[in-house]
This record gives sequence, C-alpha cells and structure tokens, in this order.
Amino acid sequence: MDWVAKWICPNTELGEICPVFEKEFQLNGDICKANLFLTALGVYEAVLNRERVGEFVLAPGWTAYRKRLQYQQYDVTNLLQTKNHISITVGKGWYHGRMPGWGGSPVQKELQENPVGILMQLEILYCDGRKEIISSDETWTVSESNIRFSEIYDGEICDALFQDLDKKPVTVFHGPFHTLIAQQGEEVREQERLTPVQIIMTPKKETVIDFGQNLTGYVEISIDAKVGEEIVISHAEVLDSEGNFYTENYRGAKAIYRYFCKEGKQTCHAKLTFYGFRYIRLDHFPKNPKPEQFQAVVLHSNLKRTGQFRCSNSLLNRLFENIIWGQKGNFVDVPTDCPQRDERLGWTGDAQVFIRTACYNFDTEKFFTKWLKDMAADQGENGRIGHVVPDILQNPKASAAWGDAATICPWELYLAYGNSEILNTQFDCMKRWIEYIGSTTTDPYLWIGGEHYGDWLGLDAASGSCKGSSREDFIASAFYAHSVSLVIKAGKVLKKDISNYELLYQNIVRKFRETFPEYKTQTECVLAIYFGLADDCMTTAKQLAEMIHAAKDQLQTGFVGTPYLLHVLSDYGYEELAYTLLLRTKYPSWLYPVTKGATTIWEHWDGIMENGEFWSKDMNSFNHYAYGAVGDWIYGVAAGICPVEEHPGYQYAVIAPKPDVRLDWLEASLETRHGKIYSGWRKQDNIWRYEVETPVKTKVIIAGKTHEVTKGSYVFYSEIK
Ligand code: BGC
Repeated sequence: MDWVAKWICPNTELGEICPVFEKEFQLNGDICKANLFLTALGVYEAVLNRERVGEFVLAPGWTAYRKRLQYQQYDVTNLLQTKNHISITVGKGWYHGRMPGWGGSPVQKELQENPVGILMQLEILYCDGRKEIISSDETWTVSESNIRFSEIYDGEICDALFQDLDKKPVTVFHGPFHTLIAQQGEEVREQERLTPVQIIMTPKKETVIDFGQNLTGYVEISIDAKVGEEIVISHAEVLDSEGNFYTENYRGAKAIYRYFCKEGKQTCHAKLTFYGFRYIRLDHFPKNPKPEQFQAVVLHSNLKRTGQFRCSNSLLNRLFENIIWGQKGNFVDVPTDCPQRDERLGWTGDAQVFIRTACYNFDTEKFFTKWLKDMAADQGENGRIGHVVPDILQNPKASAAWGDAATICPWELYLAYGNSEILNTQFDCMKRWIEYIGSTTTDPYLWIGGEHYGDWLGLDAASGSCKGSSREDFIASAFYAHSVSLVIKAGKVLKKDISNYELLYQNIVRKFRETFPEYKTQTECVLAIYFGLADDCMTTAKQLAEMIHAAKDQLQTGFVGTPYLLHVLSDYGYEELAYTLLLRTKYPSWLYPVTKGATTIWEHWDGIMENGEFWSKDMNSFNHYAYGAVGDWIYGVAAGICPVEEHPGYQYAVIAPKPDVRLDWLEASLETRHGKIYSGWRKQDNIWRYEVETPVKTKVIIAGKTHEVTKGSYVFYSEIK
C-alpha cells in the first residue's frame, strides 16, 4: 500500500470530546471502482454521504499498537456521488483508553502521548481509466462531534443536538506509517439483536430491563422525544439476592450510556465503545418505557459457527449455550477474560485454556492468527510472553500456563485447521518462550522460582488466596515440559532440527520425576498424566479418582487443572466419574451456575453462592469463558469427535463416542475444512444406537471396537453396561 495520505489530528485540545474530521469533495465522471483505506489512533466510525462505511464496529481493532496498527479497506463505489461529504468520528477506544482499570500501564501512557488522529486514503478509478486520490491532509476540517465522551470502560455520552459550527483546520502530524498493516483479524460486527424479556421495578424502585441473556454489545433505544430530554442507562450482569440492580463487580468501569435527545423520533446507541451486560437500569428516561423501544445489539468478531451440540439433559444444553455465549462475549477482536469490568484484557492463560473449545464452536483461525502475531510482536527480547496480549501490562516476569499460550495456541490451531503456516509464523516465538524459561529458572531442567498465577482460582486455595494449593514449581515445570514437547511436535511438522529440544525434553521429564515423585492435589495428578510426566499414568489416574471421591465427588481444580480433568479421567477408564463431575448440579460444578440461572460461564464456580450472596465484590465476573473449556470434552469425548495429530484439520477423523446411562441421547456436529462430521448416540430398546456421518476416511471406535470407514453415514450398536 502506497500512502500519500497524511496523519491528521485536531489543532486544539478537545479533552474528553470525540473529534469529527470532515471533508467535502467533488468527483467528475462515472466511477468504476472506489476503495477507501482508513485507520485511526483510537476507534473510528466513518460516514460517507450519510451512509456508514462498512460494518466494522470499533475499527481499526486492537493490536500491539506500537508495532502493528491495522488499516481497513472498504469498497465504497456505491456510496459515492458527484458531490461528497465524509466524516470520521474518533473515540479513545483501546488506544487512548484508561486500560487497565488499576492504571499504571507504561504502554498506554506512551500511546496516550499521541494525538487522536486519522489516516484516510480514497482511491478512485473512473470508467474512462482516470485515477484520483482523495486523502487526509491539511484541507480537512475538524470539530467537536456530538459524542461528548467515549471510553472502553466508562461508556459514552452523546448530545444529539450538539452541532459545532466552528470547523477548524486540522494539524498534520508524524503519525505511524512503519507499523501499518492491512486488516488481519475478523471484523467486530453487530451480530444479532435481543428484545427485553421483562421490565422490572426492583425493591429499590428502580426500573430495570432484563434482556434474558448476558452479552456484549450495546442497547439501541428508539424514542419520540422533546429537545434536551435525557436518557441515562447503567449496565449490569446480575441482580443481587434482593432483586436489586448490582454493579459492584464492574469495579471501576462506569459503563454508562447517556444521551440528550433532539426533537422527534430518533434511535440511539453507543458508537465507539461496548458493554458487557444482561440488565440495564433506566437512571433517566423521559417517559414510561415500553419493551419495544429497546434492543440489545450483540457485538463480536465475525466468526463462522462450526460446532453444535444437544442432548437429553436440559441443564447440560444450557451449559453448552453458556459456553457459546461466553465465547461470543469475549471474542471482541481480542480473546478477553471478561467484557464488563475494568479489565477486558487479552489474558494469555484464559485463551490457552479455552482455545480448543473455541476452535470447535467457531472458525477462529483468522482471529487467533492475528492475536498470535501480536503476541510475537510484544514478546520481550528475552522471550518473555506477557500476561496479556496486546501486552499493555509489560510485567517483567512471565507466568507459567499464561506464557505457555505461546506454544499451546499455535498447536491447537494447527490441530483444528490443519494449516502448518501458523506453526511456521509462530515457531520463533515458541522457541524463544522456551529460552525465556531456561534463562529465568534456577534449574536447567525445571522451572523453579518466578512469579506465577498457580492453579488460579483452584478450590483447594488457602483462605483468602486466589491460587490453588498445587505447587507453583510443579505447575511451572510441568508446563515447561509441555511447551518443549509442543516445540518438538511443531519442529517435526516444519522439518526443523529439534534434536536439542528432544534432549532438553528428556532431561526435564527425568528431573521432573526425580523432583516430584508424589502428587499432592487433583491438579498435580491431572498435569502429571495429561502432560505424560507420570511414571505410571494408570496409578496416578487411580489416585486422582480416589482424591475426587475423598472430596465427595467434587472437583477442586482451578484454571490450570480444570481443562484436562475430565480428559484424564476418561482416558484412563474413569469416564463414569468424568460424567459424574459433568452432570453434578451442586456446587462446585459446571451445572451449579446453570441452576442459579447463569446464561454465560462464571469466573468462579460459586459467583453466586448457595445462600444467594456473591463470592466477592471485586473479582466476580459472570462472563469469563475459561471454565467453558469443558466444551472440548463434550465434543471430543462424549460425542467423540476429536482432532488427530497425524492428520490435523480432520483430513482423517477419529470418532470415539462415550455414552453414559444418565443421558438418553446426545449429539454433536462439527463443520470441518473437509465437510461436516456428525456423531450421536441414543438409548434404543436397551442398547446404544450410534449414528456417525463423516466426510473423510474415519476410524470409528465404539465400545472399544475399531471400525475403519470411508465418507458416508453409518449406524453402530453396543450394549448398555
Ligand atoms: C483475570 C483472569 C486472569 C487473571 C490472572 C484476572 O484478573 O480476570 O481471568 O487470567 O487475572 O490470574
């Protein structure tokens, strides 16, 4: 892309007000093609001749801005006329936002020193072959837009009446060109609309609208109003035990939308920010609200849905829906921990925990490929991987299981989509992560010391701590082994010399076994088995099953152990116990939140406790996808559709369903790059009847028996034991 455009910004300080950049221009002749190239330091909305340009909300998206800034290309051929007017409004977005909520980000501080500016180039090809370029330069004007405030956490204020007649010249500034890249991720777009399920008058006499679903986006309001009438809405995920509107878990995020009306009929919504919510409170509303005046507009990255699931248990079906909604709500250009409180950051640990489930549910290849490039761009010189990507925290120390996203995520993408290019692009980043561990540990073959999140939110945590009781050196060393094993696997695919990693791996495994001969927690057992570190996996699985029984059939694992827990049980003959954990409805369990009305996955197993009170005020998200990682066991073991290392991307499939008598039927399907795989089972006349459909050669394993089949639909039976 050859840029002739210049970066422009306001020539005066506008404070909190969002600037609008404008230009009028004339064209002469019939237009054959017109492409608009646009980016901003902030988030923009462009309007050409009264029509919104494109569908990307929160463009240009969030990247490691100091290294990579996306620009978008829009075909605007049909929007142009002889006389044209373009306006581009820019909000703080992620670039200038006050992220993270607890402050102190060196990166944000550096970014905030840059002005709120835009770069636009419109390339026109006339039908007679002439070319013309209209671009941002000194001839543009800038003024105050009617968006008086917009910020990621705090929300937006719009005054529909406001019109700035004082259009000022812009300033041309030295904005970034060397970091510009064409759009790589999926665009964030409006995806669906939900209508209110009820309007509630709470005990505190507040008017609250319930959309019935925790989601990410904004509310669109239609109103017939008088000039200057005011609408103020607040957002919340839950009501408290008394039924009152509850916002404490948003912490510092104000999440307000405020709108001053013009005369007559109008529709409004936030334009340059988003909210995570199920409920809104009408803090000010001119008239009696009617449900038809409100729509919740769901925003997320434009991902194609690929996985489906249903079974005879309605709570499990709702859990699955919650996993899907957790993904929708947190896949807003970057995979985030949560979409509501003053975080909304690309936590690497959360992403690695959930990625396999994410790849079943939706086609996330492009989405994660972009994010992994940001990870590589933000990687420290010593190979350090940030706790979050884009890495605005710049913590000098990486954490095990968070930084390991560097190896786990590319490998999972490769397994799901079969494209070795992702390994190729990330290989250097993967290797450098291993080097980082080597440089920071005090033992060459274990990861000893450092600062880690441990088995985050494990239930075996000491009182008052968020870290489960699994030993940090144990977890860090186990992930060290796992990451090295993934570098070896990736290296083999890429045909690289990986002999030194093989040697390192053998040494880590040897040293691990010497140093950690015993497993003290559920998570320690899980990691030892899943990462192939236990001498005797069968015995360790037995120990794990006994620990679970001793805990009254309850899981105690946190972020680190939970994703693999059911897998290690079912891999070693304890599938009945795996189902017991999955189908359990009492706390702690996946279904407990469902019984409490959850519509997304909670950060804590008991975000709302049995007595109706909240787990805590400040660490209690109700839309945190991490524990939704159980989705991959549902697809991969219960339905039995799982990726095969030797044949990534389902070029060849293995379908090995594992039914359980507590369910009458279960089915799942996956739209792969080679076509749709379906697997279902049901009880029929006291036997299991399985149906399988595959687009490729497949190994079907039913009750331990293997059947090799080719493309087609098949029925199998097995005894109910
Ligand atoms: C986030 C998590 C994250 C964690 C680090 C939290 O505040 O919400 O999901 O992984 O910090 O332990």
